[in-house]
Amino acid sequence: MPPLKGKTVVLGVTGSIAGFKAADIASQLVKLGADTRVVMTREAERFITPLTLQTLSRNPVAGDLWAPPAAWEPEHIALAERADLLLVAPATAHILACFAHGLAPDLLTCVYLATRAPVLLAPAMNSAMLEHPATRANLETLRARGNEIIEPASGVLACGTTGNGRLAPVDEIIARVTAALTTGGTGTGGSVPTPPRGAR
Ligand SMILES: Cc1cc2nc3c(=O)[nH]c(=O)nc-3n(C[C@H](O)[C@H](O)[C@H](O)COP(=O)(O)O)c2cc1C
Repeated sequence: MPPLKGKTVVLGVTGSIAGFKAADIASQLVKLGADTRVVMTREAERFITPLTLQTLSRNPVAGDLWAPPAAWEPEHIALAERADLLLVAPATAHILACFAHGLAPDLLTCVYLATRAPVLLAPAMNSAMLEHPATRANLETLRARGNEIIEPASGVLACGTTGNGRLAPVDEIIARVTAALTTGGTGTGGSVPTPPRGAR
């Protein structure tokens, strides 16, 4: 049986140049059996189309907080409750700041606040953005809250510089998701805590 059969992964995709890699992530999650539900920010749609992610995830893509829900329950609550795990890959500096500060202006930020599922975040950005004290502080806040950070890799960045900030390899992201959902760990020796509501 595929290892993620019966599991729902909500895949958040944000406005990074690495957005195209979400296609590979969605495809691999589906191959592993996960019910894959993509939530895109508006800026993510500038980098990869909802149609691509809808086709690869085999599910409708959500993005509009104000879209009439299919059932009575608001979409952000339905997705938050359905999730066995929330993975955001790639995660921008902006979305990390929203999460760290509890801002909820769109569907993905509302899902983040409303879910009790473990959260895995895979940042991707220019190395100066990553090293900025604001981003570092936001990452520390999120780590302290129990969110797992899939550390970005070093290499040549889209902006032409070399440094830290590349999205972690897709295989590593998939391994962390699989570990979190099948063994309760994330492949880095720790488990993903699911703190009670109010403790996050
Ligand atoms: C060409 C281009 C590439 C970008 N790549 C990144 C990126 O890799 N990481 C990042 O944090 N922001 C990146 N940005 C900036 C974000 O798109 C911007 O902060 C946006 O508001 C993020 O919105 P979101 O987090 O709601 O998706 C990029 C912007 C442009 C124009």
